[in-house]
Amino acid sequence: MTDAVHAPAAAQPRRTFRVGAAARPCTLVVCRGCCCGNPRKYPRVDHDWQLDRLRAAAAGSGGRVAVRVSDCLGPCDQANVVVVQPSTAGRQAGGKATWIGFAMDDDCTDDLIAWVTAGGPGVAPPPPTLELQFIPPPREARAARR
Ligand code: FES
Repeated sequence: MTDAVHAPAAAQPRRTFRVGAAARPCTLVVCRGCCCGNPRKYPRVDHDWQLDRLRAAAAGSGGRVAVRVSDCLGPCDQANVVVVQPSTAGRQAGGKATWIGFAMDDDCTDDLIAWVTAGGPGVAPPPPTLELQFIPPPREARAARR
């Protein structure tokens, strides 16, 4: 054990956190697990191109959109899966994380980019064609099967 562990609390450096100081961007969580983005399973899809396009949209958004790559999110049979997380403003307006399934083609990628650059969940309505690809989050899907 080090001395720092046993030092009285008053000797520890003080940290201050500004809760909520930074607004969160609308975030695309792009699954790239065992099935999503796998060219052996879906050879006709340019998965790298899709991710490049989403990242380019985020880079051009002035910080309003972010992209994060995730390991398997669960519903592999609906690959490619993308979760659109609301921005701080979107969450405050009631927006919820929205799961998109079968996000394979350029039209879907166009719709994703259009929606998140317009503000995403809670801020802007989704394109109707993208709405057709909404899937329930795994927890809700499991509950519905019971
Ligand atoms: S690999 Fe994407 S949901 Fe499993």
